[in-house]
Amino acid sequence: MTKTVPAFELFAANATDHPGGALPGGGIASGPEGYSVLSYQLATDVLRNPRFANSALKLMEEFGINDGAVHGFRARSIIMQDGAQQLRLRTPLARFMGPATVQNTREMLTDIVTRIVGELDDTKPVDFHAGVDRRIPSLVYCHLAGAPRTDAPKVQELSERTLALLARDPSLKPDILAAYDELFEYLRDLMERKRAQGLGDDMLSHLMTLADNGKLTEQELFDEATSMLEASSVNTGHQIGLVVWNLLRNREVWEQILADPTWIPSAVIEALRLYPRTGVVSKIAMEDIEVGGITIPARTDVHVAVWSANRDPKRFEKPGEFVLGRERNQPLTFSTGAHNCLGQGLAKVEIEEVVGHLVRHYPQARVVDSESAISQTAGRWTINQLTVDLGPRR
Ligand code: HEM
Repeated sequence: MTKTVPAFELFAANATDHPGGALPGGGIASGPEGYSVLSYQLATDVLRNPRFANSALKLMEEFGINDGAVHGFRARSIIMQDGAQQLRLRTPLARFMGPATVQNTREMLTDIVTRIVGELDDTKPVDFHAGVDRRIPSLVYCHLAGAPRTDAPKVQELSERTLALLARDPSLKPDILAAYDELFEYLRDLMERKRAQGLGDDMLSHLMTLADNGKLTEQELFDEATSMLEASSVNTGHQIGLVVWNLLRNREVWEQILADPTWIPSAVIEALRLYPRTGVVSKIAMEDIEVGGITIPARTDVHVAVWSANRDPKRFEKPGEFVLGRERNQPLTFSTGAHNCLGQGLAKVEIEEVVGHLVRHYPQARVVDSESAISQTAGRWTINQLTVDLGPRR
């Protein structure tokens, strides 16, 4: 099937001048980087279609990482697997990411948030990114993995440096390779320490026990642990900051949440829709596939523009506005389909707890706009700086 598609440069600096949804010529467009999927419906179709594979491995190969331990890990990792092997890798992790377990982590999270916000000097504006949002996810990872809290800065740094791959900047290749080597070494050491102390009921102990019982190979155990560590911190840190930035600057919504904190989960989802950290999810067609009336040839890059789908007027009324209590509010920030984000329940709880802490203790908190900046590169929203005047504590 052949049909003309509109042109669109997804990674151009002005790409987000497009308000969202389909272009006049359709929901799929083409440009120098391949195809871009802009409408909510087609984005959902692509993300749910198992004949599209994640392009993380191809991205590595484009960086010149074609063999060795890092390439091997990526090729075997859960995000690259399909069918039975993906399920085999996902099931043991899902046990720790399901709703019940995530709810149990709330208490621990309340403690973490209270402790790290308590370390700030709230008598003057605080660096919220360095002091809060960047710190929380790695502390949560350490709790989940049964690692000492003192490992958190290392975990956070390793997650940031390894997933820098998604910034699509080839000059980062040496550091990305070095970061994976450090991550592998850290995990080997952590597992040795855990063995020496005796395994517990945490996620990493569970994976190690599965490997001891022959339910996972040693390689799968190591790959699972690597996937969870790299995914644990960097995106969640930026996403916490993006939600806080959005909510504190939107005083009408903020007042509504203060008046009735049961609005917090809805407000978080709406902020996730408007400012998705993972604004582009890149895939490759594994065979010729038809999308939106055109045939995409095998091995072609197809970039799902989550930020555009999340603002599609056909799916969301008044898409550019923050609407609390929106019906059918299911943004694609955590993707959808078989590879939907395994950590999404945990990430949402982390964000809700930070917002909840501000609601309970710092109702007058405000973003200092002159000392705050967010940006979007390669479709991903990033916190460059976030300064918050917390106001009086109550
Ligand atoms: C706000 C923070 C986060 C965002 C925006 C995010 C986003 C995503 C997205 C978009 C995908 C799907 C990619 C695709 O469809 O190919 C994904 C997958 C994944 N995420 Fe997250 N993520 C976040 C936090 C986390 C956390 C905290 C963890 C673990 C502790 C995690 C673990 C994973 C894993 C293991 C996968 C692969 C799932 C699979 O292939 O079956 N993520 N994430």
